[in-house]
Amino acid sequence: MAAANNRLVTVFGGTGFLGRRVVQRLLRAPEFFVRIASRHPERGRQLFGHEDLRLQSVNVDLRDEGSIAAAVDGAYGRGASCSSTQPTIRARSKNEAQRARLRPT
Ligand SMILES: NC(=O)c1ccc[n+]([C@@H]2O[C@H](COP(=O)([O-])OP(=O)(O)OC[C@H]3O[C@@H](n4cnc5c(N)ncnc54)[C@H](OP(=O)(O)O)[C@@H]3O)[C@@H](O)[C@H]2O)c1
Repeated sequence: MAAANNRLVTVFGGTGFLGRRVVQRLLRAPEFFVRIASRHPERGRQLFGHEDLRLQSVNVDLRDEGSIAAAVDGAYGRGASCSSTQPTIRARSKNEAQRARLRPT
């Protein structure tokens, strides 16, 4: 889905109160693609629509390691803002982090 120069970021809890704002912030930067990960992927589509080619919504349960691994597969960065974890988000480079206001790894 993402071209070589684009950055795919998985946002766990991207349908939630805080996570939605993380998704919105990332989508403002044209180089970022966003994969919303939650137990109800249809909510992500309802919230952000089906039209944005930079957005996908996948089914993940944090209690299922396999679904977490699939959700971060190929991702450049990942963030979590779920009711069962502390909100955090990480990027692979400080430069990219500053542009998107993420926390570098
Ligand atoms: N809201 C605030 O002002 C605030 C302030 C400080 C700290 N926090 C903390 O930030 C975190 C997020 O808060 P929020 O207000 O954004 O919560 P929220 O609106 O309830 O959103 C929680 C998100 O987590 C997902 N989620 C919950 N359990 C999951 C599971 N087992 N597997 C996968 N996804 C799961 C939910 O999606 P599904 O239900 O579809 O899975 C939803 O997207 C919480 O830890 C909260 O304590 C919030």
